[in-house]
Amino acid sequence: MVLNRKQAPNLNRSAPDRGLVSALNFQPMRLEDVDRVMAIERHAYEFPWTEGIFRDCIRAGYYCCVLVREDALLGYGVMAVAVEEAHALNLCIDPQAQGQGYGRALLDHLMRKARLAGAARMLLEVRVSNFIAQALYASVGFIEIGVRRNYYPDRGGREDAIVLSRMMV
Ligand SMILES: CC(C)(COP(=O)(O)OP(=O)(O)OC[C@H]1O[C@@H](n2cnc3c(N)ncnc32)[C@H](O)[C@@H]1OP(=O)(O)O)[C@@H](O)C(=O)NCCC(=O)NCCS
Repeated sequence: MVLNRKQAPNLNRSAPDRGLVSALNFQPMRLEDVDRVMAIERHAYEFPWTEGIFRDCIRAGYYCCVLVREDALLGYGVMAVAVEEAHALNLCIDPQAQGQGYGRALLDHLMRKARLAGAARMLLEVRVSNFIAQALYASVGFIEIGVRRNYYPDRGGREDAIVLSRMMV
């Protein structure tokens, strides 16, 4: 999966607000949403995707969704599903809205969509330094199945990706 995150783990964060999470909407990402998606992408990642990548994913028919609450776009997910396998390519929450349960809700949503599309398992990559995302994935049963060496750009070099997998059935 995607790129670097800037935020270090904060062990003093408050518990997720379940009321906020229950008011969420998941909508298909449209080309018109890409500007707002990019604003979040640039803040959330040190090495963001380009606008063109999001447009290509939408046009290619990947599952691309935005997470909306009261007209505010809080995050988004991009996932490819092929031959019974779902590959989560991007999952991101606006840094200002992180730590409130939205990331977990978004991942749950992607897993539900993967199941509905007939995927038997979901795969994703995560930076070795991205401890927050790793904690989220581990908490819902993803397990490490490999490492892709030098997968991500990094300051002054490259960073490895951990490949994670979860059965959907
Ligand atoms: C990873 C990401 C999607 C998590 O979203 P989030 O809304 O902040 O996470 P949630 O509030 O739903 O928390 C889900 C879990 O993540 C972990 N987590 C979230 N924030 C954390 C923090 N500040 N410190 C430590 N663990 C944290 C916890 O395991 C948490 O579960 P818990 O609340 O039961 O303890 C979000 O941080 C993000 O968008 N990061 C930038 C993009 C990115 O790195 N995407 C993943 C690429 S592989």
